Amino acid sequence: MTRVLSCIQPTGDVHLGNYLGALRNWVAGQHEKDAFHGIVDLHALTITEAPDIVGQSSLQLAAMLFAVGLDPAVTTVFVQSHVPEHSQLGWIMECQVSFGELSRMTQFKDKSAKREHDFLSAGLFSYPALMAADILLYDTDEVPVGEDQRQHLEITRDIAIRFNHRFGETFVIPTAVMPKAGARVMDLQDPTSKMSKSAAADTGLISMLEDPAAIMKKFKRAVTDSDTEVRFDRAEKPGISNLLEILAACTGETPQALATKYTQYGSLKVDTGEAVVETLRPIQARYHELMTDRGQLQSLLRIGADKARSVASATLARAQRSIGMLPA
Ligand code: TYM
Repeated sequence: MTRVLSCIQPTGDVHLGNYLGALRNWVAGQHEKDAFHGIVDLHALTITEAPDIVGQSSLQLAAMLFAVGLDPAVTTVFVQSHVPEHSQLGWIMECQVSFGELSRMTQFKDKSAKREHDFLSAGLFSYPALMAADILLYDTDEVPVGEDQRQHLEITRDIAIRFNHRFGETFVIPTAVMPKAGARVMDLQDPTSKMSKSAAADTGLISMLEDPAAIMKKFKRAVTDSDTEVRFDRAEKPGISNLLEILAACTGETPQALATKYTQYGSLKVDTGEAVVETLRPIQARYHELMTDRGQLQSLLRIGADKARSVASATLARAQRSIGMLPA
């Protein structure tokens, strides 16, 4: 059976880009594939400053993952720090990747540029090594992610190939899987930047828990261009193309086919807003219901961590044997 793994950071609210680019694909394959999904709190520590936030965010994120449709009966949902093998293999991965390779990661360059005057942790720099460990620990075949994670997937493959070459066949080489529409959801106010929790203003970001009136307002105010033609062209018309792509991801049509149905920007904005509201409505209802029973969520996460550890510990032991470390 194909093994699937993907993860998400518990940093603030989950947004529409996370959902259309990744989460809905996690749900789509879960009954045919053997799926593992991590709430990667160790990754969130690279930028977390205030105490008492990451645990609460992890629990809320678990509720959101079940609310979007992950079925705990078939899918393993776990918190990364509950599976210590991530940190253990993470260090080994740090020793398999070079300073130069990490320096070329665009996510590091973007995030460090935004935090120019803030504390820049070494963890932010070595992040891709921990991400490689997340993936390789589960003998993962497929990693469903948004376009922004492509470079991290490539470095994971490079590390795995290098390790196998140095120490003998140990890791499965994973492949990135991206959706046809929604792989790169852009900021509604700045359609040349991806929708992101770290954006300067939240007027361009749709949170999964946002109320319908606020969603409609943000879509009506979405930045487009001074032209009047509705056409799918990411380079020339990033704002309109983003709306078409969001609408396509919500309706299952293609952005190109949708473009032929509109002559006005206004109706495209309203229809896209409404499609998003209807997509999020049942998810929001389930989320609020799940959050009423935190004990149940925590027990699902404990079961997830046990299942994750049984796979991860075997892979870590195999990697340590390949290297020839002295058994404890
Ligand atoms: P994170 O937490 O930023 O995002 C989680 C998922 O959402 C996707 N995504 C988007 N997709 C489309 N448009 C957007 N604007 C958008 N913003 C986010 C991301 O591609 C991702 O799939 N490094 C990862 C977390 C991670 C991980 C892993 C992922 C850690 N270990 C192992 C896969 C496998 C990250 O920061 O995602």
